[in-house]
Amino acid sequence: MLSKHSNTFYITRTKENNMKRILPVAALCSIFFIGCGGAEQPAAESNAASELVSGYDLANGKEIYEANCGGCHDEGLLNSPKTGDIEGWTARIEQGMDTMIKKSIDGYIDAGNMPAKGGNDALTDDEVANAVAYMVDESVAK
Ligand code: HEC
Repeated sequence: MLSKHSNTFYITRTKENNMKRILPVAALCSIFFIGCGGAEQPAAESNAASELVSGYDLANGKEIYEANCGGCHDEGLLNSPKTGDIEGWTARIEQGMDTMIKKSIDGYIDAGNMPAKGGNDALTDDEVANAVAYMVDESVAK
């Protein structure tokens, strides 16, 4: 049906301009390419994001975060990475969850000073890990 229609189009237009025979085909191809790529990419990204934080208790992480971490990370105080700042977190997330969690448990100094367990020794390692997972989940494109 499509080709029949196209043939009619070509026959009537051929004498005028040969380019017009090629253009509709090229347009059709690019629609297919863009269509496929566009459909696959967002799905792949959101899968990667949810895989990162799967296995962590995000509800617990949110509670721990709000009580212990948000004071700095909500606004990016003291050069801390601001929660929700997707660009700011990209390079950190590339280190991997384990590295980010270990640095959060032990504390570290680079551009700022991240206190061990956010300054609350009473937190368990798992609670800190959940809080990190919550922060990562809030800071990736979805
Ligand atoms: C007193 C402020 C403060 C508090 C409270 C705080 N942080 Fe931080 N955090 C920082 C700063 C500053 C940095 C950046 C340090 C640097 O890059 O030098 C940071 C960095 C981080 C990073 C990035 C680590 C990396 O590898 O890039 C994570 C994850 C993190 N904090 C998690 C937490 C968690 C979880 C809590 C709560 C349990 C918490 N932070 C509480 C100040 C804080």
